[in-house]
Amino acid sequence: MKKILVGLVLTGTLLSAGSYMQKDRILDMQTMASAMQEIQNGFFYNNIDMVIEGTGKLADTVQRIEPPLEEVEEKDIMTRYTNNKVQMSNRIKKKIKQKTKDIIERFKDGDATQALQAYSKITQQCMECHTQLRKW
Ligand code: HEC
Repeated sequence: MKKILVGLVLTGTLLSAGSYMQKDRILDMQTMASAMQEIQNGFFYNNIDMVIEGTGKLADTVQRIEPPLEEVEEKDIMTRYTNNKVQMSNRIKKKIKQKTKDIIERFKDGDATQALQAYSKITQQCMECHTQLRKW
C-alpha cells in the first residue's frame, strides 16, 4: 500500500512538472506585459509601491517561463532544439530578474535615469527572446 502511495505521489509530481502548456505561457506573457506597464506607471506617477509590485510580478512570472509541453514533446529533434533554446531562455530569464532588482534599488535611490535604463534593458531582453524564438 505504501509503495502504491509513493508511486502515485511520484507520478503526480512528474505529471505536474511537465504540464506547462502553451496557453500557460501565453498567460504568463500577458502577465509580464501588464507588469511592465505597472512599472512604467510607477515611474510616471513617481510611485515606488507600483514599481515594487510590478517588478515583483515580473520576477515571479518570468521564473515560470519554460518550453510548453507541446514543444517538449515535439518529435523532430531540430524543431525541438530551435523551439526550446533552453540555455538562451535561462540566460535571458536571469538577466530580467537581475534588472528588476536594479530597478527597485535605483528608483529607491531617486535615480530615475538608471531605473529607466534597467527597465529598457528588460524590454530588450523580452524582444531578444521574441526575435529568436518567435522570429518576430
Ligand atoms: C524565453 C523567451 C521569452 C521571453 C524572455 C519573453 N517572451 Fe514573450 N513570448 C515568447 C513566446 C515564445 C511567445 C509566443 C507564445 C505563444 O503564442 O505560444 C511570446 C508571446 C508574448 C506576448 C503575446 C501573448 C499573446 O497574447 O499572444 C506578449 C504580450 C509577450 N510575449 C510579452 C513579453 C514581455 C513583456 C516579456 C519581457 C518581460 C517577454 N514577453 C519575454 C517568448 C518569450
